Amino acid sequence: MHFLALETSCDETSVAIFTDELQILANVVASQIDLHAKFGGVVPEVAARAHLQRLLPTMDEALRQAQVKLADISAVVVMNSPGLVGALLVGVSAAKMLALTLEVPLLSANHIEAHIFAARMAAGRDIFPCVGLVVSGGHTSLFLCKTPLDFDLLGGTIDDAAGEAFDKVAAILGLGFPGGPAVEREAALGDPKAHALPRSFLKEDRLAFSFSGLKTAVLYALYGVGKTRGSAPGPGKVRADLAASFQKAVIDVLVAKARQALRKTKLARLAVGGGVSANQALRGELEAMAQHEGAEIFIPPMKLCTDNAAMAAVAVEKWRRQIFAAFDLDAVPNYQGKN
Ligand code: KG4
Ligand code: ZN
Repeated sequence: MHFLALETSCDETSVAIFTDELQILANVVASQIDLHAKFGGVVPEVAARAHLQRLLPTMDEALRQAQVKLADISAVVVMNSPGLVGALLVGVSAAKMLALTLEVPLLSANHIEAHIFAARMAAGRDIFPCVGLVVSGGHTSLFLCKTPLDFDLLGGTIDDAAGEAFDKVAAILGLGFPGGPAVEREAALGDPKAHALPRSFLKEDRLAFSFSGLKTAVLYALYGVGKTRGSAPGPGKVRADLAASFQKAVIDVLVAKARQALRKTKLARLAVGGGVSANQALRGELEAMAQHEGAEIFIPPMKLCTDNAAMAAVAVEKWRRQIFAAFDLDAVPNYQGKN
């Protein structure tokens, strides 16, 4: 069986080809960073138009790399939720067209569940039930993942997502877009103890996150309390110390809440996914915490952490259960839990 999967939820156009054995034959990602950088963030309309231009060439490249012909495709998968609705629609429409013309089944995959499934794919064995931590540009959520397709939400952010905070702090510090990798590079040069920044809900029993106050605290540390405007600092100690202190505050909270979720659920497996899990400092601290808790940890390699279509292989689980998508499948912008 060869599955062809499409991902267009945000600013990466991605097409993957994988087998029912979860072997990835191609996972091509066409990034739109060049288009959005000058705006300092993803512009939804620009993203949708770029997906339209890039999807078919990306698919051709995936087929070429996998050495598979369209006629060999046995099912088409599309990530239809959550994401930017215009961007998602490009993938959903293309997937329907492909499934109809190839006369093969259409399957949907949930982008959040797919981020956790990336950890399952990298592990090469079953990892469920587990605690799932999704840390991306749009989500910071902890789940009890009973199976690849059955998640209970344990808690999430009440305002900004962790990745969003990285992107906003990068903008404040003049580090450009995308923010995560830039803040990580800068943080490596600074002192994480230089500034005492807030760690929301750290000591509370509640499984919730809040990163919006942290972003304001970075602004105040830079320009003075109550002042939110000024020019970005150039390279040097001020910028590096703020990046390091900010990153450490985010990591402390993510690690503490993941630990709480492991203890609450009494599970000894933690799966992590989403773009922020590409952060080496976060990976290291999560690994140390899991080891201390006696839990196994599953974090996929970098290229499976950030948005990619191979993680849509969660749909293989649906195919096994004969759960196909209808041709009125919609693009659904918000995460709606059980699918
Ligand atoms: O999962 P993802 O690729 O897309 C969404 O589904 O949102 O995550 C993108 C987010 C961005 O906010 C980006 O700044 C962040 O992941 N990110 C990082 C790193 N690499 C990407 N954050 C911190 N450190 C990184 N190395
Ligand atoms: Zn994502």
